[in-house]
Amino acid sequence: MSTPAHTHHTLHADDTRHARPVVELTGVTKEYPGGVQALRGVDLTVLDGELLGIVGPSGSGKSTLLHIVGTLDRPSAGRVAIAGHDVAALSDRALSALRSRHVGFVFQSFHLVPGISARANVAEGLLYSGLSRAERGRRAAAALERVGLGDRMEHRPHELSGGQKQRVAIARAVAGEPDLLLADEPTGALDSASGRSVMELLHELNREGATIAVITHDQEIAASLPRSVRIRDGEIVSDARHPRPGPHPGALPRNHGEPS
Ligand SMILES: Nc1ncnc2c1ncn2[C@@H]1O[C@H](COP(=O)(O)OP(=O)(O)OP(=O)(O)O)[C@@H](O)[C@H]1O
Ligand SMILES: [Mg+2]
Repeated sequence: MSTPAHTHHTLHADDTRHARPVVELTGVTKEYPGGVQALRGVDLTVLDGELLGIVGPSGSGKSTLLHIVGTLDRPSAGRVAIAGHDVAALSDRALSALRSRHVGFVFQSFHLVPGISARANVAEGLLYSGLSRAERGRRAAAALERVGLGDRMEHRPHELSGGQKQRVAIARAVAGEPDLLLADEPTGALDSASGRSVMELLHELNREGATIAVITHDQEIAASLPRSVRIRDGEIVSDARHPRPGPHPGALPRNHGEPS
């Protein structure tokens, strides 16, 4: 698998100039059968290394946007490019190959396979990676270590807490080192302490180089992210990069030098 080396860190307003775009949406609309205009002309660029929140009221089009960004769905009109590939030019088969190579998903309700271990769940996410079974198992174990679940590898989903299940889902999403991690309300089903620790994990993965977009209803979470995109009635109504990270709950110290 050709995964670019992650040599950069969280981007803020003053160091976005040299990063390459991972996502480029231009004039994207989405009309569902029945006539709902879920997106009405969305322009959105996400740069390599960003961590952004997508916020907005229920029904405003957040999940629709995330599905289109993640190539789970195609737009009705407009252009979508992921890691430089124009989605419209790709067959469904090529699109799912692109998705498995570049995108990881985390859903509010975990979407784990019941009855198999945490490790098997994470390894499942690597099924189409072309890696051997043994290598998938090794990477799954490493991803679980990375999210702090090294001591829960053989637990099945019903033997894990909600926060631990969400960590397994995050491990599954990042095991293949995707260019882009998309999370739809990853803290929605969790109590506030588990939610905070899941957000801490996302911040940590971002500091290690992952590009992350996270949908949240939680204003406090949104305010803790380096960029927030507000959507209302299918339109982006504001898009702000915050100059410097305010200290957020559970922030780890930034102990690296800034890229010049
Ligand atoms: N498969 C579908 N078919 C028809 N209409 C849909 C479909 N999915 C979503 N919609 C409609 O599109 C609009 C946007 O839905 P979406 O799920 O993107 O909202 P959301 O911002 O994620 O809301 P929430 O915060 O409640 O999850 C809504 O009005 C919804 O009813
Ligand atoms: Mg939604």
